[in-house]
Amino acid sequence: MNRDPGKVAVIGFGAMARSLRDSLNRSGSDIKITAGLISKGADVEHDGIVFFRDVDALIQWGPSVVVECASHAAVRDCVPTLLRAGIDVIVVSIGSLGDAALLNALDRAAEHGKSRLTVVSGAVGGLDALRAAKLAGLDRVVYTGTKPPAAWKGSPAEKSCDLSALAQRTVIFEGNAREASSLYPKNANVTAAVALAGVGFDETAVTLVADPAADGNSHHVSAVGSFGSFDIVLHNKPLPDNPKTSWLAALSVEQALRRHFQRIEL
Ligand SMILES: NC(=O)c1ccc[n+]([C@@H]2O[C@H](COP(=O)([O-])OP(=O)(O)OC[C@H]3O[C@@H](n4cnc5c(N)ncnc54)[C@H](O)[C@@H]3O)[C@@H](O)[C@H]2O)c1
Repeated sequence: MNRDPGKVAVIGFGAMARSLRDSLNRSGSDIKITAGLISKGADVEHDGIVFFRDVDALIQWGPSVVVECASHAAVRDCVPTLLRAGIDVIVVSIGSLGDAALLNALDRAAEHGKSRLTVVSGAVGGLDALRAAKLAGLDRVVYTGTKPPAAWKGSPAEKSCDLSALAQRTVIFEGNAREASSLYPKNANVTAAVALAGVGFDETAVTLVADPAADGNSHHVSAVGSFGSFDIVLHNKPLPDNPKTSWLAALSVEQALRRHFQRIEL
């Protein structure tokens, strides 16, 4: 197996991938992003990164691991091919895994290629506890996402309330993770991460809140089961150079990649 930390590739080179590249470079790590699969432009080398447009060309280049930082479509179109070719993949666009047929195809591809797909924890936490607790049975898992009203612009919340005039904390959605993922796709990664770690898309309860007093995005995961119960609340700051991505989500990608190369997974 190729374990070369100098041959890490990304799919997509937007906010997440750039933040990952910059943070690794700043830390002086021997883990380096040296290839990228992008959807536009010609195959070129720029800033120490070889860019490909075709997944087969990337496979020929021989990445040790590929970090998907692109889109749900990229998971569907590129990741099965990479797994089938024996290349491990770290997936950031977790919302895509709500598609049971795609999840099954990824599983078969990884089995064929003897490779591994890892999902990042992204903007939420407590998923390790949720996965462990599931083994003894979970009775209830609730995810509550709270954002300032302006952050819900362009979502179905606009139809049920006047976001710009909200004076108090207002619930804009209550339902399960399956409905939440399809109605609020911008929240789909977080919703999917909780659903996949716990009781699945149909059984995970989701509440989405617009709060004029909120100064950022917060995530509350609450679980009750045979193990006992837990509540975890995260108040996330955005990436300093990109307000649309939470810092913790970017850090979770870096952590997953560092873990991939550790002999002892701490
Ligand atoms: N898990 C989490 O908590 C979490 C948090 C933030 C973002 N994300 C997800 O991570 C992904 C990247 O986020 P971002 O902020 O970097 O987005 P971005 O829009 O800044 O960058 C994505 C880049 O990927 C490219 N791209 C899209 N589809 C592609 C494909 N099929 N092949 C090659 N390139 C493709 C786009 O052109 C763009 O340049 C998104 O899917 C986003 O939903 C997940």
